[in-house]
This record gives sequence, structure tokens and C-alpha cells, in this order.
Amino acid sequence: MTQFVICGGRRMQGEVEISGAKNAAVAILPAAFLVDGECRIENIPQISDVTLLLESMRDMGAHIRTVNRTAMDISCQALAYHEPGPALGEIRASYYFIGALLGRFGEARVPMPGGCDIGVRPIDQHLKGMRAMGAEIRVEGGFVCAQARGGRLHGANIYLDVVSVGATMNIMLAAALARGKTVIENAAREPHIVDLANFLNAMGADVRGAGTSVIRVFGVDKLHGGSYTIIPDQIEAGTYLAAAAAAGGDVLVRGVIPRHLFSITAKLAEMGAEIIDLGDAVRIHTEGPLHCANVKTMPYPGFPTDMQPQIVTCLALAEGTSVVTEDVWDNRFKYVSELSKMGAKIQVDGKTAVVEGVEKLSGATVKACDLRAGAAIVIAGLAAQGVTRVTDIHHIQRGYEDLVAKLRGLGAEIREEEIPEETEVGRSLA
Ligand code: EPZ
Repeated sequence: MTQFVICGGRRMQGEVEISGAKNAAVAILPAAFLVDGECRIENIPQISDVTLLLESMRDMGAHIRTVNRTAMDISCQALAYHEPGPALGEIRASYYFIGALLGRFGEARVPMPGGCDIGVRPIDQHLKGMRAMGAEIRVEGGFVCAQARGGRLHGANIYLDVVSVGATMNIMLAAALARGKTVIENAAREPHIVDLANFLNAMGADVRGAGTSVIRVFGVDKLHGGSYTIIPDQIEAGTYLAAAAAAGGDVLVRGVIPRHLFSITAKLAEMGAEIIDLGDAVRIHTEGPLHCANVKTMPYPGFPTDMQPQIVTCLALAEGTSVVTEDVWDNRFKYVSELSKMGAKIQVDGKTAVVEGVEKLSGATVKACDLRAGAAIVIAGLAAQGVTRVTDIHHIQRGYEDLVAKLRGLGAEIREEEIPEETEVGRSLA
């Protein structure tokens, strides 16, 4: 097992290129099941969630050819129905296989989704939508088993009781080849929802209204091949901006769509960082300590929950007291105990954290509890005085491409190294 070792306290300086969006890629790749032809998908992030997903697709008979480091040709033409293996259940996005397989084959048996432990993560809205479209669904033995009555789904009017990214995208996948029109009311509006709609439309689907809260999908009989480039990852970009804000510095975050980052850059500006929008890049410059600010997470265009741990780390080093409310997930402050080991002063009460800024954090051995919590801990390590060791980094590798190389390019002292055996024994006995 490996860990990150960070010698903190260095200002960050330089440029970083942002990879393709994880939460778009994990829906667009299984969307290739719907396509009767070959799709070239570009800007695929090189992260472990994507590797696992592509392996599952290959095992199910998809032909996947690497074009270059971030582009693949995927062909699911003439594919017969195959069940994904249980390994797929390790990632949250396994649920997109339900919509894609049900849409293409009229049946799906998919392991219940795993993913980050950030609270109860039901998929009732996904299943409600697909039932309305004529699917019979049971959950048994850890699998979701779905069958379209008559072999093909039909359109339906679906009102989502909660604004759900996954349910919105899953229903879009299921509806692309359904008979008739599907309307999704109270849909989520994240950039990756628009990206999935754009991908499907590029392959011949008819999806309208993505990016608003009402999406209409007019089912078509077939999708054809084509090529598509995934959008840049807003959360990866936000993470580097937060790192520069916490550690101090002058960083150019390249290859982004600045309007996708607006809630993040506006908050960093409120905290005293200088932000410059350069069209396809954002520059951040910070001098001196940040100021406190209140943050509430919300569905897009609100402040993203996937940036909550990183912004809390910035606020832990800001002047004054901030209140952070997590309004999407019910248990996303678990990492606070790790930040406390580094000297952060944060009180959590349910879905609210009161963050009293301190002058400095100090290095410690800390654990990445989940993907974004892990990113937050790395940011804390970069800003802290002394050496921080981050364990359980597999969580971070699920969603950040080349984190170590990118941070080193910004002048950070960070490396990945084997955890010495005696420490591992100690840890497993703990
Ligand atoms: C996606 O999860 C992302 N994951 C999450 O990112 C992100 O935190 C989340 O959207 C919100 O932006 C992927 O895209 C793979 P939701 P998802 O359905 O789709 C409730 C990361 O760090 N809900 O929008 O699973 C749910 O409990 C990850 O990259 C229901 O009640 O999230 C939550 O409170 C972590 N019933 C809220 O809705 C449902 O059927 C929003 O969840 C579905 C959701």
C-alpha cells in the first residue's frame, strides 16, 4: 500500500491542466452501450473509477480501442446482453448501467452501487423513473434486476422528489431509445447533465432542455456512431484553486469552462483571493490570510457539495469564524476529525460545521476518508507546516488524474511512497 508524503508550507506557483470530468465520463462511457456504431470519446480522465468501468464494459463484450492516453474508440455494435460482474458495484456510477442496459436490451442486472461513504445514498428516484417507463424492478441479493415490459421502455412524465444528478442522467439514458416522449421535471442542472445530453444528441438522440429543470427526451429507434469530447472537470479545477488559496500562491488553472466554476471562484473571491477569468483558464492569486465566509452546498448552480471539504480546509486557515452547511449529503463531515489532528478548530453539529480559523496547521499522519475528503486532506498538508502523510489514497485516485505530478508542477513537495510494513501492521491492529 502507498501513501502521499507532503512537505507543506510552500507557496504554489505555475500552471495546471485540468482533465476530463469524472462525473460526466462515468455516465458517457456506459451511454456507449446505447450506440449502434463506434463512438470516439475524447478527454477521458485517467482515474481508477474509469479504469474499473471500462474493464466491466470490456468483460461485457464492448470493443474498446485506445486511440491515445485520453481517447478511446468504443463499439457496442452487435453486442448481446451480458451482465456486468460484481466488481462494478465498487463504484457509485454502476447505476448508469441500469439505464443504459435497460434502454438497449430491455433488461439489466447490476450490482447495487457503492462509492464514497457520505451518507445514505438511495436510488429510489432512479427506479421510480424507470418503473414509470414500464420497467419491472426488484432488488435482490445486492443486485438491481430490471426488465422492460414488452422488451422496450416507453416514455413517461417523471417528477423527481429530490434534485438528483444520478436519477436525472439515468432516466435520460433509459429514455434515449424508449418509445415516445419522456419528461423529467425537477431535473438536476449540473454541467455533466448537459454533457451527457450533448453526447447523446451527437449520436442521434433527441434530448432537449438539459441544463434547465425540465428535460424532454424524444425516444429514437437507433443511435449512430460519432465522436465526442468530455468537458473539463469543474471539481478538479476547484480543488487546485482551493489548494492555491489555502497554501498561498499564483496559479493558472488551464483548460476549464470558467462559468462552471462560478460558485467556487465567487466564494474564493469573497474570501480575499484575486480571481482572473481568462476565457478558458482561471488564474488565482493570494497574498496573506483568507477571510472567513459562510458556505451552503446546493445542487448546481449552487456551491457544489463535492467542493465542501476543500473549502472547509481553506476556511480552517482563514481569519474569523465561518459556518458551512452541507445541504446535499447527510454525513459529509467525517474528514473533520482528520483535519483536527492537524490543528484545525471545527465543530460539527449534524449538517453544519462551525470553522474557527487558525493561523497554521501542522503536519500529521491522516487518512483520506473518501474522494473529496482525501483532496481536502492533501490541501491541508500542502498548507501545513511540517510533514503530512496521507493514507488510504486509493479513494483520491478514484477521481484525480496524476495528482502528484500536477501538484509537483505547481512547486509542491509531494511524493507517493510505500507505507513501511511495520506501520501497516500497526494500522491493521488499530
Ligand atoms: C453525484 O452523486 C456525484 N456522483 C456525487 O459526486 C455528487 O456529490 C452528487 O452527484 C451531488 O452533486 C457521481 O456523479 C457518480 P444525487 P449522485 O443523486 O448522483 C438524494 C464525488 O465526490 N437521492 O444528486 O449519487 C441523495 O441521498 C461524488 O465525485 C435520493 O434521495 O447524487 C442526496 O441527498 C460523491 N434518492 C441527494 O439526493 C435518489 O434516488 C443528491 O444525490 C437519488 C438521490
